[in-house]
Amino acid sequence: MSRINGKAALVTGANRGIGRAFVAGLLKAGAAKVYATARNPQTLDDLVKEGNGKVVALALDVTRPDMIAEAARNADVALLVNNAGIAAFEGLISAKSSEPAREEMETNYFGLLNMVRAFAPVLARNGGGAIINLSSIAGQVNFPALGSYSVSKAAVHSLTQGIRAELSGQGTQVLGVYPGPVDTDMAANLPMDKTPPSAVVDNILQALEAGEESVYPDPASQELHGGLLADPLAVERQVGQMLPG
Ligand SMILES: NC(=O)c1ccc[n+]([C@@H]2O[C@H](COP(=O)([O-])OP(=O)(O)OC[C@H]3O[C@@H](n4cnc5c(N)ncnc54)[C@H](OP(=O)(O)O)[C@@H]3O)[C@@H](O)[C@H]2O)c1
Repeated sequence: MSRINGKAALVTGANRGIGRAFVAGLLKAGAAKVYATARNPQTLDDLVKEGNGKVVALALDVTRPDMIAEAARNADVALLVNNAGIAAFEGLISAKSSEPAREEMETNYFGLLNMVRAFAPVLARNGGGAIINLSSIAGQVNFPALGSYSVSKAAVHSLTQGIRAELSGQGTQVLGVYPGPVDTDMAANLPMDKTPPSAVVDNILQALEAGEESVYPDPASQELHGGLLADPLAVERQVGQMLPG
């Protein structure tokens, strides 16, 4: 049975980048309804207009537990896409303060944690459903140029493993996503080949439908993942040459 076709889904950070591509990808895969959420819901106006009644805009800042509770009351979904995220591009030692690292944890880790806690009962009511968590290949090996971001994405990876076990009893599929560089605002200053967000989303949704538990949705992450399986310390040394600054 499809995890998407005929189902309702919610996407965080849906106004741009990978989140925006998720809205289009879910509609293409037959979603009955997509709750597109953003801190500023006016940035979703065109998605709602193009959605032919299937896209519903909701205001949601994932660092606000009150807004998360409101979203969980209003959005009766079988699929939750935890996409919203921030990146400070700071080293762990060279950063001038710990504040950017704290903000990354608030959004990338605690925001996501509060989302899955609020939506677990909603998914259970809908037969178990599925959760897609956007970690990063940087969550599996620390990129020092993005040192504190890598830590927050490693936390997302660990959370993904933990909730997969805790939610297995209610039949929720939990898909961890570990992209390399994707062509969005977040990666705008990275001087390397980037995969278009639509291609990344197509691969993620295929993995979801195939019942997978993790996906490396682009060539760069697939190559690094292969390296991590073969020789994790060699990959650590390789990406460790890209220092902050
Ligand atoms: N791009 C990459 O190379 C790459 C690689 C691996 C993983 N990822 C992950 O993929 C996800 C999407 O990234 P992206 O490349 O699409 O980034 P992006 O273009 O910078 O978009 C980030 C999205 O997250 C939203 N957001 C940030 N803080 C939020 C908050 N507190 N509450 C709700 N929404 C919030 C932003 O909303 P506003 O418009 O309001 O700021 C925006 O919609 C992130 O989790 C990122 O870490 C990206």
